[in-house]
Amino acid sequence: MISATADAWLLVMLKQMSSPVKVKRLAAVIGDPVRHSRSPAIHNAAFAAVGLNWGFTAFEVPAGGGRDALQAMRTLGLAGMSVTMPLKAEVAAAADLRDPEVEVLKAANCIVADDDGQLRAVNTDTAGFVAALNADAGVDPEGMRVALLGAGGAARAVAWGLAAAGAADIAVINRTPDKSRAAAAVANAAAGAAEPGRVASFDDVADADLVVNATSVGMGSDPAMPCDPELVRPGQVAVDLIYQPTQTPWLAALRARDVAAHNGLSMLVYQAAAAFELWTGKAAPVEVMLQAATAPQ
Ligand SMILES: NC(=O)c1ccc[n+]([C@@H]2O[C@H](COP(=O)([O-])OP(=O)(O)OC[C@H]3O[C@@H](n4cnc5c(N)ncnc54)[C@H](OP(=O)(O)O)[C@@H]3O)[C@@H](O)[C@H]2O)c1
Repeated sequence: MISATADAWLLVMLKQMSSPVKVKRLAAVIGDPVRHSRSPAIHNAAFAAVGLNWGFTAFEVPAGGGRDALQAMRTLGLAGMSVTMPLKAEVAAAADLRDPEVEVLKAANCIVADDDGQLRAVNTDTAGFVAALNADAGVDPEGMRVALLGAGGAARAVAWGLAAAGAADIAVINRTPDKSRAAAAVANAAAGAAEPGRVASFDDVADADLVVNATSVGMGSDPAMPCDPELVRPGQVAVDLIYQPTQTPWLAALRARDVAAHNGLSMLVYQAAAAFELWTGKAAPVEVMLQAATAPQ
């Protein structure tokens, strides 16, 4: 004979077994290294905030594995994929479709599964930088003169974003001149008829409204600075794309000179917000994402 308690327990179990299983959708970031990525914290917080039964994880995929990762996305039906180093170029080349900025940048940080199952490569760093600039500094790039320090992948995405948003002059200052020329050409490709992109030197910093550090100088515990902070003065806006540490030596020196200077956390969040919106079709809860990005890991 079954006791009353066991009876009640059995009823609960039967009820649970007969209720439909809620299938959780999964999205992921791929890259190498990816263990310390903030993307899972940012996206899981965002999914929960809008009531989506989705989860986000990180898969370590070494260089050369981008094409297989796209195939895995198809097979497993992943809802979306973020892409970080060293896979941005491989996935851009291997995707079924590429947005116009990806055709030029030859790098994607986001994969979207279109309704017909085609995988589309997108670069959300471009618009993410502009949205972050607007949120942090309250400025619009239209008509701005920019000194862009660096000409790597991040600098080229920023050059595209600023030129597409109407920046009047994008002076690219970089250690390796060939790369400066390539980054200036990206800006010119984004601008259409206008030609804001040009190769420049540190002399051009003084004339800029906006100074952007898109080099990796100052990252981690690197004490170096991407340019002499004395070249930047109050009234100019400065952005350092680095977010680890949250205050680089360059940002600290600029702030000591009363320059409005911002780090790369907002760009990280706004590029994620753009990806979230492409995957889910819902407005991204940016404040929640920002909190998740800044919470201790
Ligand atoms: N906030 C965000 O969401 C976000 C997104 C992407 C990247 N980032 C940050 O942006 C930075 C650049 O990333 P990336 O992907 O563009 O890297 P990358 O493609 O490797 O480019 C690195 C850039 O830094 C320059 N550089 C490196 N060491 C230098 C040195 N000692 N002196 C002068 N220039 C030096 C390189 O110059 P050469 O061309 O001469 O080698 C190049 O322009 C990283 O710190 C990254 O964390 C932030």
